[in-house]
Amino acid sequence: MHALRVEGLAKQFGGLYAINNVSFNLSVGERLAIIGPNGAGKTTLFNLINGQLMPSAGRIYFFEQDITDLPTYRRAHLGQARAFQLISLLLNLSVLENTLLALYGTTPYRFKMFRSVNGFANVMDRADITLKGLGLWEKKDETVKNLGYGEQRRLEIGLGLALHPKLLLLDEPSAGLSIEECSEIIEIIKNLGEGVTVVIVDHDMDLVFGVADRIIVLHYGQIIADGPPREIQADPRVREIYLGIEE
Ligand SMILES: Nc1ncnc2c1ncn2[C@@H]1O[C@H](COP(=O)(O)OP(=O)(O)O)[C@@H](O)[C@H]1O
Ligand SMILES: [Mg+2]
Repeated sequence: MHALRVEGLAKQFGGLYAINNVSFNLSVGERLAIIGPNGAGKTTLFNLINGQLMPSAGRIYFFEQDITDLPTYRRAHLGQARAFQLISLLLNLSVLENTLLALYGTTPYRFKMFRSVNGFANVMDRADITLKGLGLWEKKDETVKNLGYGEQRRLEIGLGLALHPKLLLLDEPSAGLSIEECSEIIEIIKNLGEGVTVVIVDHDMDLVFGVADRIIVLHYGQIIADGPPREIQADPRVREIYLGIEE
């Protein structure tokens, strides 16, 4: 059983193939990083996996279910979560309020908020566990806009995880973070349970090589390398094209 299976995927914009005949499988629990020069097609591939873009050709399977034609929200219900860029925090609400809203989105109470006291107590317990796990419990009453940027990112990733996704798509999680905040994110990703499959697009090589157990390198919309980090780092073509290292 693969968490994700991409077959002959292509996306054309006008005459240009942003993604061209891309195929790969992802096992459950794998941590894949997609890297490549600007314009290589990373964001496009991400958007195809997530359903924000529809492919010109090819199929995408999520836990062996063909999701190629499903809209983003249906993919989310099946267990895809995307952190950064899409899930945004409600900046004027408190940390706890944001957490409760994220958790309510996943319970049968979704359309009947605060339906029962038991339901509420259950969600409060989960909010408590979630925020303590993120080291944000002391900040639960803080308005989100007053948090540090690193804390906002941590909350965002944590709330993405509170949905217990099967696949977590991380879109440039290091963007705008200090080195210290970035290593916090690395720790969070490393400590995700084995059931969570992760796909990361990021420019920060410390993050990529710190968390990925597999790297796919895109170049002009095609996969030019696919393998474990050590292999990718040693690949002469990758070194030349992407890492900018001349032998
Ligand atoms: N919506 C779009 N319309 C037209 N061209 C696009 C669109 N999105 C991306 N492209 C083009 O597709 C190629 C890949 O872009 P992108 O996936 O954003 O690359 P990356 O994320 O690797 O920098 C680029 O040449 C870009 O200009
Ligand atoms: Mg991009």
